[in-house]
Amino acid sequence: MSNYSTIYEAVGGVAGIKTIVQAFYPKVLKHPLLGPLFPADITPVMEKQTMFLTQFFGGPSLYSDEYGHPMMRARHMPFPITRERAEAWLGCMREALAESNLPQELQQLMIERLSGPAYHFVNQP
Ligand code: HEM
Repeated sequence: MSNYSTIYEAVGGVAGIKTIVQAFYPKVLKHPLLGPLFPADITPVMEKQTMFLTQFFGGPSLYSDEYGHPMMRARHMPFPITRERAEAWLGCMREALAESNLPQELQQLMIERLSGPAYHFVNQP
C-alpha cells in the first residue's frame, strides 16, 4: 500500500476489484444467512459491486456516474440486515481477500474500511 495513493491502485485497478468481487459472490450465495437475500442471476449485482468498490476505494466514480448518489444504507433497506448478516458479509469478504495474493496489511485495511458501512447497514435487531 505504501507505494500507492489509493487502495484502488494498490489492488490493481478495476481488474483487481473484479477479481475480488468474483471470489466474493459465490461465497455470499453459499452462505445460509446471505444467499437467500440475493437474486438467482447475480451478474448485475457483481457489476454494480465492481463499480461501487472501485469508487469506494478511491478509483473513478463509476457507480455514481451510472446510478447517482450511492445512498447505500437506503438501497439496503428492503433487505433485513442483522448484525450476524453484517459479520457474515465481512467474513465472505475476508475469505475472498485471503484467496488473492494481496499483502496481508492491505487485506486488513480493506476489511477495516468495509466494516463501517457493513455495520451501518444493519436495520434489524
Ligand atoms: C451488511 C451486510 C450486507 C448485506 C446482507 C447485503 C446485501 C445486499 C443485497 C441483498 C443486495 C441487493 C441485491 C439485488 O440487487 O437484489 C445488495 C446490493 C448491494 N450491496 Fe450489499 N449487503 C451488505 C453489505 C454491503 C456493503 C458493506 C457494501 C459496500 C460497502 C455493499 C454494497 C452493495 C452494492 C454496491 C449493491 C448494489 C446496489 C444497487 O442495486 O445499485 N453491501 N446488498
